[in-house]
Order: sequence, then structure tokens, then C-alpha cells
Amino acid sequence: MNIKKMSDLSEKVVFLTGAAGILGTQYATALSNAGADVILADINYTRCKKMEIKLKKEFDVTPFSLKMDISNKKSIDNGISKVMKKFSKIDVLVNNAVFPETQKERKIEFEKFPLELWNKIFAVNVTGVFLCNQKIGSIMVKQQKGSIINISSMYGIVAADQRIYGNSGLNSTAAYAVTKSSLFNFTRYLASYWRNTGVRINTLTLGGVENNQDPKFIRKYSEKTMIGRMAKKNEFTGALIFLASDASSYMTGSNMVVDGGWTAW
Ligand SMILES: NC(=O)c1ccc[n+]([C@@H]2O[C@H](COP(=O)([O-])OP(=O)(O)OC[C@H]3O[C@@H](n4cnc5c(N)ncnc54)[C@H](O)[C@@H]3O)[C@@H](O)[C@H]2O)c1
Repeated sequence: MNIKKMSDLSEKVVFLTGAAGILGTQYATALSNAGADVILADINYTRCKKMEIKLKKEFDVTPFSLKMDISNKKSIDNGISKVMKKFSKIDVLVNNAVFPETQKERKIEFEKFPLELWNKIFAVNVTGVFLCNQKIGSIMVKQQKGSIINISSMYGIVAADQRIYGNSGLNSTAAYAVTKSSLFNFTRYLASYWRNTGVRINTLTLGGVENNQDPKFIRKYSEKTMIGRMAKKNEFTGALIFLASDASSYMTGSNMVVDGGWTAW
């Protein structure tokens, strides 16, 4: 197969949750650049709308902003029915949205971590992925084609090294670790469940992105990677396009790790 054609996403409809975030913005741009019409789904509609206008101009595609709370079934049902009315199909789902943990919440001692907050994090990071996979997966099974990408973190594979975080507020919570870890087997379960249907599902696991953190933290973090630095914001887009497109047509139930080597030693 022609290599350019393999990763071409022209006329593909990609449903991207958390589209307004740091990485969502990068994915939306890369997917549009590959020719996809991207559904920009996020609780932050204003940012999606701004991006929609920019992407339309830059890439001659048809992005579509959707105000959606992935932890709310009604919000998903309403959003998907709008998308189906406009596009009649969904080729790719990227489960990228994540609960917005604040620095204050990240500093809470585990022994005092409130159950209410634990449940809120699960509602977005796990139940939100469940609801999107259920709703959009059903559409893909009917289409007999689709690719789903669950976005996880290396902190779903290994423990966050508390020694480099201290009281910086940059650490993630135990709830984050547990929710991100759960996605690996959710992916495998659904890959098996949807075997022979044309629907593929994989996890994309990421390392930390440099984003104006304290230079001391960046140095300590970088030493723990094999590449010797944190990721740049755009360094996951190649893997995303690969998993979204036919370039990965023989891949399902798998986990692709892009973490600068952090989990490899
Ligand atoms: N940034 C990193 O260093 C890093 C590292 C490893 C993994 N990841 C993973 O990458 C993904 C994106 O991370 P990011 O850094 O871009 O996060 P971000 O916080 O910048 O963006 C997340 C987006 O999700 C949206 N969101 C939150 N709750 C929502 C809900 N209920 N419904 C719909 N949208 C909702 C937010 O509005 C935001 O736009 C996450 O799944 C995260 O776990 C990120």
C-alpha cells in the first residue's frame, strides 16, 4: 500500500474528546492536517469554537465544535445525535479528555483524599471513556469499521516517582494513576469483545509534556528519561495518526508507549 495513502485521513470523521486541552489542540491540528473532519468535543465550547474557525481556514476541512460533558450520558447522547445528523458516521474516537486536577487537589495527602473527589475523577477518566466507547463503539460496529484510541499515561504503568515531585503540586493523584491504569484492560476487553467486527481499539500511553514547569523539576524529570528531556507538545501526534489510520490496520488490543524511555529501565 502507498505509505502516504495509509496515513491519509481525508473524509474520515474523528471524534476527539478534551479537544480544547494542551494535547487535544495538537491532535486536532494534526488530524485536520491529515484531512480529517474533527469533532471538537469538550466542556470548554468557546475554545473549541475558536479552534474550529482556525482549522477550517488552515486545512480546508469541516471541524465541528460540541459542548459535551463525557461524564453525563444525556450530554453524550445529545452530542452524538447532532454529529450523526451532520456527518452520518464516526470513523475514529480519541478518548483524550481528563478530569482537571488542580494543584491544590494534587497536594492532598492520600490518607485525607475525599471520596467525593475520587468519584469525580473516576466519572470523567473511566466512566466518561465507558460512555463514549459504548455509544460510539455501537455506531462503529454497525459501520463494520472504526478505530478507538484510549489515551493513558505512563503513570498508569509505573508509580509516579514521588522523589521528583515533593510538594510541587505537579504530581498526579492516586485516582489519576488508578483510572489511567484501568484503560489498558478496558482496551483489551473491548478488542476481544469486538473481534472480527472491523472495530479496532488500542491504548496510547504518554510521558510528561514540558509546559512551563519549574526548571528544577524539568531537570529532575529529564534525568529519568532515556531521551534526556520531557516531551514536546507535538511529539505524540505521529503515534496518534498511526493508530487512527489504516497504517495500524493489523493492531488491536495493544498499548503504544511514547514516554522517552521512562518505563523501559
Ligand atoms: N500533558 C501530559 O503531560 C500528559 C502526560 C501523560 C498523559 N496525558 C494524557 O493526555 C490526555 C490529555 O492531557 P492534557 O495534558 O492535554 O490535559 P488538559 O487538562 O490540557 O486537557 C483536558 C481537556 O479535557 C476537558 N475535559 C475535562 N473534563 C471533561 C468532561 N467531563 N467532558 C469533556 N471534556 C472534559 C478539559 O476541558 C480540557 O480541555 C489526558 O488523557 C492525559 O491523561 C497527558
